[in-house]
Amino acid sequence: MREGGIAFEDVGFSYWRGKEGAVMESFNLSIRPGEKVGLVGRSGAGKSTLVNLLLRLFDVEAGSIRIDGQDVREVTQESVRAAIGLVSQDTSLLHRSVRENIKYGRQTATDEEMIRAAEQAKVAEVIEGLLDPRQRRGYDAHVGERGVKLSGGQRQRVAIARVLLKNAPILILDEATSALDSEVEAAIQEQLTSLMQGKTVIAIAHRLSTIAAMDRLVVMDAGRIVEEGTHAELLARGGHYAQLWERQSGGFLDLDTKVDAAE
Ligand SMILES: Nc1ncnc2c1ncn2[C@@H]1O[C@H](COP(=O)(O)OP(=O)(O)O)[C@@H](O)[C@H]1O
Ligand SMILES: [Mg+2]
Repeated sequence: MREGGIAFEDVGFSYWRGKEGAVMESFNLSIRPGEKVGLVGRSGAGKSTLVNLLLRLFDVEAGSIRIDGQDVREVTQESVRAAIGLVSQDTSLLHRSVRENIKYGRQTATDEEMIRAAEQAKVAEVIEGLLDPRQRRGYDAHVGERGVKLSGGQRQRVAIARVLLKNAPILILDEATSALDSEVEAAIQEQLTSLMQGKTVIAIAHRLSTIAAMDRLVVMDAGRIVEEGTHAELLARGGHYAQLWERQSGGFLDLDTKVDAAE
């Protein structure tokens, strides 16, 4: 699983087996190695489910998911996870030192590599100023319970540093910058863009402007793909995506944001 090609083949899935309302039925999507795909769709469309299935947090009920031709059910969950770098909207960190948290991406990394990743994720300065209740400082400071409480944005940046260090062939960004203020986001966006080079990418974002430049946008609704194409193609088409794009105010997807905030 080094190339990073992904194929969903006739995938069927529901969270509550046997009950009404499959999240996906006969879902098909293939992503070429190195292709960058943006997933678009209102809250509940099935974007995160797709990611959960790829990570094998759940197994499909029908069909299969393949990475480089290999059915993810036929390999260990560890090797699937090793092929994937993930930054999601709710990043939980280990209740350990910052150093361990970043090196979790790649245990064999040197301190220099770890610090470089923290710098790229614009979190090095924050870390240098940390002091936990047991007087451990900087990268040695522990986070979480009995440690330093980091803000959502800071946790997200530590997660980005971790993924930068991991350097896996597949990169999944599920609202990867949602907890960051726009200034920090703009600074990190550059790093994420360079991180994407040569990798297969699946990116989900409320701010359509952050994914508009992807090779292909896949628009989902109720677990199905309703449109796909480049940003320009989809705008020209005047359909679902064009409508979502139009509804954006100040770079945000108004409707979606409201729904999420109520969750
Ligand atoms: N852990 C879960 N258990 C039960 N239902 C879920 C779970 N996660 C998501 N769902 C349901 O699956 C559907 C797709 O959700 P999701 O993949 O999270 O959508 P999106 O990421 O596009 O907002 C929704 O109807 C949602 O309520
Ligand atoms: Mg989601």
